[in-house]
Amino acid sequence: MKSPQIKTALPGPRAKQLIKLDKSFVSPSYTRVYPLVVEKAKGLWVHDVDGNIFLDFTAGIATNSTGHCHPRVVKAIKSQADRLLHMSGTDFYYTPQIILAEKLATMAPGRSAKRVYFGNSGAEAVEAAFKLARWNTKRELNIAFFGAFHGRTMGALSLTASKTVQKKNYNPLVPGITHIPYAYCYRCAYNLTYPKCNLYCVRWVEDTLFRTTVPAEEVGAIFVEPIQGEGGYIVPPPGFHKELYKIAKKYGILYVADEVQSGMGRTGKMFAMEHFGVTPDIMALAKGIASGLPLGAMIARAKIMNWEAGSHASTFGGNPLSCQAAMATIELLENNMMKNAEKQGNRLLKGLNKLQKTYECMGDVRGKGLMVAVELVKDRETKEPATTWRNRIIKETFEKGLLVLGCGENSIRFSPSLSVKPGEVDTCLSIFEDALKKVAA
Ligand SMILES: Cc1ncc(COP(=O)(O)O)c(C=O)c1O
Repeated sequence: MKSPQIKTALPGPRAKQLIKLDKSFVSPSYTRVYPLVVEKAKGLWVHDVDGNIFLDFTAGIATNSTGHCHPRVVKAIKSQADRLLHMSGTDFYYTPQIILAEKLATMAPGRSAKRVYFGNSGAEAVEAAFKLARWNTKRELNIAFFGAFHGRTMGALSLTASKTVQKKNYNPLVPGITHIPYAYCYRCAYNLTYPKCNLYCVRWVEDTLFRTTVPAEEVGAIFVEPIQGEGGYIVPPPGFHKELYKIAKKYGILYVADEVQSGMGRTGKMFAMEHFGVTPDIMALAKGIASGLPLGAMIARAKIMNWEAGSHASTFGGNPLSCQAAMATIELLENNMMKNAEKQGNRLLKGLNKLQKTYECMGDVRGKGLMVAVELVKDRETKEPATTWRNRIIKETFEKGLLVLGCGENSIRFSPSLSVKPGEVDTCLSIFEDALKKVAA
């Protein structure tokens, strides 16, 4: 089995030079957690500019769904590149966009007819969902969740409630959004325990929020991640979405699922909401949809997507190369990668659960498919977040040739490509344990 190869001090000499240059010319708003300068990548293996080889359990923030440069995806892009690079789906028709829209509309859960809007990113997909919900309902209020990440454009940012640094100095944002606690059972906002709580967090919406500050009949949409991503890979308990959806329907509120991170097979089902038995009215997709090419999609019931020509569009959205990459990606996911995500996700969870028995600092291990996280705590009883330990573990694993990222305040996420092999899962677990040992000591 292949293993990481670290041949230089990190960063190596070439990486050092490039990072120096980056510091002069690239926006300082990016959040690089370790000095990795990527040269090329294949499958789960990333080569840096100094010849070091890393095992990638980030998939470029859960985006290289089929593995880096999957030959089938590369072939689809190359052959499209010879025919047509751009024409703009806003003003013209072209085959890849139409074919992909048909595929996505028929793949999306629920029997009713759907239509698809294309953008270039997750934020654009959410932004489009936000605007469509407003257009369709004409209602000015919306509900979103603490811990949610929906993107950084002004509308999507207004729905986001992940970290204040993302919002600082950008106020005023879009008004009318109320953030409420997510079903984060490990740290329940109401200090209750599932299932004894009887989903108090959902009942609270109707019993308290709608009775006191937010008139239900003025709420256009509830924006929710089926599994919270940047917030900490938080899997809500069974019944959470179903009960919340029921309330939404009772008051004519649209249920908008942000599947940007959780969708496209990552959790072992094409869309994470399928685990919870809810068919959303609107769905936002991006990240894994085109294996790394920029593409965002917003899918809605045809009856809801009733906006008029000119009401929303994007020059590059649904670019032919991205659409071909998405068609190839979906074929690979449907063939066996989605099944593999479930299988290898279980292997990873089992391995982490085993480590949790030894390492006290692993407060919580959670996830679905290949959307898996470990929450680090200083003490299992008090659950005091161990953010500095989390950061040190991520740096340690990098030094040992494993790439992972953080999420939430004190969690580490494992979001490899859906093509990950059992041996790669085992290598990840073994490097992660080495890093844990070092930090725990
Ligand atoms: C759930 C979710 N929605 C939206 C976004 C924004 O996507 P993008 O960075 O492509 O704009 C992200 C990005 O992490 C996300 O995780």
